[in-house]
Amino acid sequence: MKNTVVVGAQWGDEGKAKVTDLLAQNADMIIRYQGGCNAGHTVVVDEKTYKFHLVPSGILYKDKICYIGPGTVIHPEMFMKEILGLVKNGIDLSNLKISPLASITMPYHLDIENAVENDAKTSNKIGTTKKGIGPTYTDKMARVGFKIQDLYSPDALKNNIFHSLNSINPKLQSYGLKTYSKYDLELLCHKYAEYFAPYIDLDWQEKLSEYKKEKKTILFEGAQGVMLDVDYGTYPFVTSSNPIAGGAAVGSGYGPSTIEDVIGVSKAYMTRVGEGSFITELTDEIGEKLREIGHEYGTTTGRPRRCGWFDAVVAKYAVLVSGLTSMAITKLDVFDDFDEIKICTAYKDTRTGKISSSYPTQVFEHKFFEPIYEVHKGWKCDISNVRNYDDLPQLAKDYLKRLEELFEIPISIISVGPDREQTIFL
Ligand code: IMP
Repeated sequence: MKNTVVVGAQWGDEGKAKVTDLLAQNADMIIRYQGGCNAGHTVVVDEKTYKFHLVPSGILYKDKICYIGPGTVIHPEMFMKEILGLVKNGIDLSNLKISPLASITMPYHLDIENAVENDAKTSNKIGTTKKGIGPTYTDKMARVGFKIQDLYSPDALKNNIFHSLNSINPKLQSYGLKTYSKYDLELLCHKYAEYFAPYIDLDWQEKLSEYKKEKKTILFEGAQGVMLDVDYGTYPFVTSSNPIAGGAAVGSGYGPSTIEDVIGVSKAYMTRVGEGSFITELTDEIGEKLREIGHEYGTTTGRPRRCGWFDAVVAKYAVLVSGLTSMAITKLDVFDDFDEIKICTAYKDTRTGKISSSYPTQVFEHKFFEPIYEVHKGWKCDISNVRNYDDLPQLAKDYLKRLEELFEIPISIISVGPDREQTIFL
């Protein structure tokens, strides 16, 4: 296997964890490069379900190095909860490492996010996962945040506590929230230093250089998806990091020349959680059917996901901005009982009548765009036991071939169920 990035090609929840888990077999190291515990990655092995938020799912393999990279944000209590859950399940964590450059989500980041999201006067309600992601990245960029390495330097702590309090307390006060003292933050930081101590990788530069020389195979694990990217997604209804493949170069500690392959992951249909435009959304009984058959409820928040037909305009956009080299199509089996299946091939701008397959990035204009659909006949049989492409019904092959034509890269993996075994490699 080449050094590969696995990236969500939709709005997250595409089934990246399963694809990552499959590819991790052939990798030496798995690096999570952005986001935090807003992500919810589910892996099913031998009918046992494992849920991950921050820890790379590659940890299920004993011999893989799993690395939480510099581009991530870590909520210490949620991290500990995840760790304890894994230990309880008998998972060996000796290969889990955290970059000292990763940022810390402080309790006040959650306080602020809750206040902003619940403020009726706030026009930009994003429908976040309320894990403090936006406020943590905001402080990181404003240079008043905490990195994990700061926990082990008295001078850094002194400096950062001073500056973060100056920045955060006026904001907390403006929402009528409890402010923090120097002592509060010192106590928290000492506790966090203990939490992270077993996993912190202070020798990361030597190690990464060594792995590079040894030509270790790296799998870069993305969270969320291209359409939630802060630069390329449906801004402002996005997350606060860069899930696109380019984000792997920034958030992993390895530069872009290390990346050799980029696999996008798309469901055979679309879903989205939270606010924001979704042009192929189905608010009727078909959307409901997709939600029920596909179990489309958030792993992290339990929220029902919005569902819709496959949008090839989005897929083409993801291929472009993430430099995808192939696509994995997941949940194809969800269509087993559908008489007809639609694919959106382009949008019509109702103001001008213009039809285009380029994604309009100004989301506040999306109310003027209508999806143009083509209709495919459903295969109406159970494909969850199919393991070879040739054994798929012709109508399923036709659907996949058409997707490939539209997004102009090959499909490399097809998933027909949650288990590792329920996979077709091409
Ligand atoms: P945040 O990342 O919690 O700030 O949320 C920002 C937006 O990204 C919201 O619409 C969330 O629903 C969405 N989001 C964040 N993480 C995920 C994910 O793992 N899957 C799907 N949507 C996500």
